Amino acid sequence: MALLPIITRDNPILRKKAIKVTSFDDKLQRLVDDMIETLIAAPGVGLAAPQVAVSQRLIVVRLPDNDEEDRAEYGVHAGVTYVVANPKIIKASKKMVSGTEGCLSIPGLWGEVERHEEIVVTGQDREGKDFRLKAQGWLARVFQHEIDHLDGILFTDRASEVWKPKKEGEAAPEEA
Ligand code: CO
Repeated sequence: MALLPIITRDNPILRKKAIKVTSFDDKLQRLVDDMIETLIAAPGVGLAAPQVAVSQRLIVVRLPDNDEEDRAEYGVHAGVTYVVANPKIIKASKKMVSGTEGCLSIPGLWGEVERHEEIVVTGQDREGKDFRLKAQGWLARVFQHEIDHLDGILFTDRASEVWKPKKEGEAAPEEA
């Protein structure tokens, strides 16, 4: 496994529409392993393949499982690594919720973004088998953020407000 460099906002790859994953071969398995390692090392809660300069429809999502607080907050999703190829939101709640986001590709900038409170995501897992997940709250937010990356959309495009940390020690949102 290897850590992959995460590209930043000025790189045009982040603005491209990523292509569908069609081959679940060894090369893809290596990419998935490297993306998971890169995500955990960053650390972040989500990573899309375009962020490591691979313009393919592949995302990795993992909410942390570092302590009791994480487990209380994320429940059964804490520490679970979701790998989804060709993810698609097939259902989204009308209800929107506002929350603070950061992005591994836009270091040092945070924003307030409205997202669907609940979504159903379908796609394929790393072996190409059907994937389906109902996600709510923070997990739903991370999925929406990552799927946006596959369409060249950054959270700053959707944010009602974007800011740099206002004061020293202000808690950073987890980045995706
Ligand atoms: Co991001």
